[in-house]
Amino acid sequence: MKKLLFILCTTIVLVQCQRKDPQDTVATAVPPDFIKELWYKNSLIYNLDVKVFKDSDGNGFGDFKGLIQQLDYLKKLGVDVIWLSPFQPTPDGDDGYDIADFYGIDSRIGTRADFEEFMKQAKARNIRVIMDLVINHTSDQHPWFQQARRDEKSPYRSWYVWSEERPKNWDKGMVFPGVQKETWSYDKQAKAYYFHRFYNFQPDLNAQNPAVQLEVRKIIGYWLATGMSGFRLDAVPFFIEKVGDDPNDPEHQFELITQMHQFVQWRKGDAMVLGEANVDPKEQKPYFGEQGTGMQMMFNFYANQHLFYALATGELKPFTKALEETKGIPPTAQWAYFLRNHDEIDLGRLTESQRNKVYDKFGPDKSMQLYDRGIRRRLASMLGDRQQIELAYSLLLSMPGAPAIRYGEELGMGDDLRLKERLSVRTPMQWSTDRNAGFSTASKTVRPVISQGPYSYQRVNVVTESQDSTSLLNWLTTMIQLRKQHPEIGWGDWNLLDTGSPSVLAMQYEWQNRSVLMVHNFSKNAQQVQLQLKKKPVRSLTSLLDKSRQQASSNGQYVIALGKYGYNWYEVK
Ligand code: NOJ
Repeated sequence: MKKLLFILCTTIVLVQCQRKDPQDTVATAVPPDFIKELWYKNSLIYNLDVKVFKDSDGNGFGDFKGLIQQLDYLKKLGVDVIWLSPFQPTPDGDDGYDIADFYGIDSRIGTRADFEEFMKQAKARNIRVIMDLVINHTSDQHPWFQQARRDEKSPYRSWYVWSEERPKNWDKGMVFPGVQKETWSYDKQAKAYYFHRFYNFQPDLNAQNPAVQLEVRKIIGYWLATGMSGFRLDAVPFFIEKVGDDPNDPEHQFELITQMHQFVQWRKGDAMVLGEANVDPKEQKPYFGEQGTGMQMMFNFYANQHLFYALATGELKPFTKALEETKGIPPTAQWAYFLRNHDEIDLGRLTESQRNKVYDKFGPDKSMQLYDRGIRRRLASMLGDRQQIELAYSLLLSMPGAPAIRYGEELGMGDDLRLKERLSVRTPMQWSTDRNAGFSTASKTVRPVISQGPYSYQRVNVVTESQDSTSLLNWLTTMIQLRKQHPEIGWGDWNLLDTGSPSVLAMQYEWQNRSVLMVHNFSKNAQQVQLQLKKKPVRSLTSLLDKSRQQASSNGQYVIALGKYGYNWYEVK
């Protein structure tokens, strides 16, 4: 009831904020109090995997102690929230997304005490922590599955999804096509087939089973009690699916999301769930829930793939359409935007011809492509051009949501295509020119560091870039600070403005008495556009980047010139 009241009040306050004429409201850079509860709406999220971030004891694995040493670096970068990739015990078949104990900590990366010290140190720096919640499946090494497969009478048998006969669609609905051969595999011990959306060593939990639901709540409660501010919920559409005859068209049980939302907030009022749900905009509504009773956040995968199309071709239309289509979420909800994450860039929602254009530009070699739908490269190596990389980050920071950055992207790290599947983009963090990129002193590291070519640690690393005023790291740190000075981007209402050019994007944000205009040129040719702002009369535009100022012409138009992949942010006064 308390939560419902809170959502209702917040909705009313937000709707009122949006309805008021900006001229009537009091300008304030300090957000009003209720915004603190909705901290996720305007936070910079930084995703890292402890085991490849910083090794403090020379065993070749990054660890919590190493991460603690680097917290000041993250603070300086402007990180508000650390999203920890899975850190529980695992046989590591899927880089930790195959968990063998939901309540434990991988002993290679630290002890419970190390973890708690990390949580304390993050809090001391006012950095929140969220973690991956991987409850669609377990590892096949998890004691629950071991008991379930051994003994038909075990209470754990019904925690998984079984079939005595081979289901007719046993080889349909794979998430990793080309690598994964089936979704139903035969288990000799169990003498039955079990369902797995992902690899065959990741049996799906039976989320319909109340005992599983109870255990999920226990896991959530357990980690919230350690000080977690929320979760990145893995594989949401698969977690809530009712396994049926057609794996390509399953029924979804959205109540599971509402129940999770309720439980999370009962335990911790301002905790949030950030969903990994790559869904069509037509399906997004029930994921956010009525009145924001679903997940508070989702990654905007739909916009992401259309953004890569725009970056590859200079043609904006599909991207602006995707932005419009994903507008209109509940006021307490928020999108998380990203450029690259720990997986392949999933281009599955583009048309074949659009996808081929992105492949041609960013992943022409077969070795760069994955699962018949994506590209397994990091941003810098894919784009290559510094100006286009800046364009992409400027855009990420201008998107109507919370920006999420994967470790190393702030440096422009590259990929190692010799590593299999998505491991190509999961190489150790590059700290310095020291041995193993300053990541570890071990003779063998968990994964090889990138030591050759233009993205080698000798060139791309934190120390070198910190000392270079023109580096990507320093540029991005400044841009992040600038974004933080403009809460209207995460909080405000936004509109796309007509620029008359198929490759120039102009977005205007308004919130309280503030307004900013962000313009981005996706073309490799310089462009000059004319545009008209939404609210009139507007007297001037002042660039937040180069401080240039301009007045509107007599017909209220502004002329904006942008170089190749140029961008500018303006304060509207
Ligand atoms: C989505 C994660 O992002 C991916 O890395 C993982 O392999 C699957 N879920 C399975 O957990």
